[in-house]
Amino acid sequence: MESKPTQRKAEPHQPTPVEKDGDTQPPVPEGARAPRQQLHRKIAAWFRKHPGMALAILVFATYVLILRNYSKLPSGVVMFNKDTLAAYNGKKNSPLYLAILGEVFDVTKGRRLYGEEKGYGGFVGRDGTRAFVTGDFTPRGLIDDVEGLSPEQLKSLIEWRAFYHKQYTFKGRLVGPFYDGAGRPTRLLRRVEEDAAKAKSEEELQREAEAKWPSCNVRWTESEGGTVWCDGGAYPRKVFLQLPGGKPTTKCACFAELGWSDIRQVYPDCAPDATSCKV
Ligand code: HEM
Repeated sequence: MESKPTQRKAEPHQPTPVEKDGDTQPPVPEGARAPRQQLHRKIAAWFRKHPGMALAILVFATYVLILRNYSKLPSGVVMFNKDTLAAYNGKKNSPLYLAILGEVFDVTKGRRLYGEEKGYGGFVGRDGTRAFVTGDFTPRGLIDDVEGLSPEQLKSLIEWRAFYHKQYTFKGRLVGPFYDGAGRPTRLLRRVEEDAAKAKSEEELQREAEAKWPSCNVRWTESEGGTVWCDGGAYPRKVFLQLPGGKPTTKCACFAELGWSDIRQVYPDCAPDATSCKV
């Protein structure tokens, strides 16, 4: 059974909508809602009568929504697909375009490197992202697949992309694994960027650790086995490192002072004041 709420009056002891919400707007009188509901009913009845028109309106609304999505692209960003990019191959005097991580660049000014039959000509007219870290410039290697690349390799890709932004002209985005049809970064691209950023900060921490604790010299021969030693009268110590997000690791570092501790150990069978140890 359907109730008719429009005619019901508010009980005097009940809080008004203003008190409930803490809103400062005056409450809408109950009676004022009736015309709106009547209008809704009229519209629903009209749609039931004209199902064809209802469908047309639905299709139009979807189209408008899609267009609105496209217009969210940063202004001036052109979308390429495989075919439109392939046309910029330098043939018939066309410009030379390449893509890396789904971003398209005009590399025409580097014709001596990217022209037909030149060493890096294979990059032109396609997204050959993977080859930037594998060095495989064959058609099998010049692909946009980044599966199985290490965080360090992903970081290198990001650096190559920055290089193209600096040296060449950015032309647009390529629909594919890194950008969807509306020009939005895909989840894959976000993961690549995140993993690359992690690799970068880990490398920075490694560099800091290296600067703090300079590495020992290391030698290994079949007859003598391994030897570590320090120059300038410093003492070799086995240092235990735990970098954030990384696995625990050890390295041989040189220290000017003689001390040792749990994380800065003297090598077994080596005097604390020796400057060279067998390992
Ligand atoms: C993973 C391996 C490699 C990749 C992905 C790679 C990629 C590239 C790219 C894309 C360029 C063009 C840069 C630009 O637009 O200015 C370039 C230039 C160049 N590369 Fe490589 N390269 C690789 C290995 C090597 C090796 C092993 C050598 C040397 C034996 C080398 C020597 C050069 C030279 C001399 C240039 C030209 C620099 C110039 O004249 O401006 N590359 N490389």
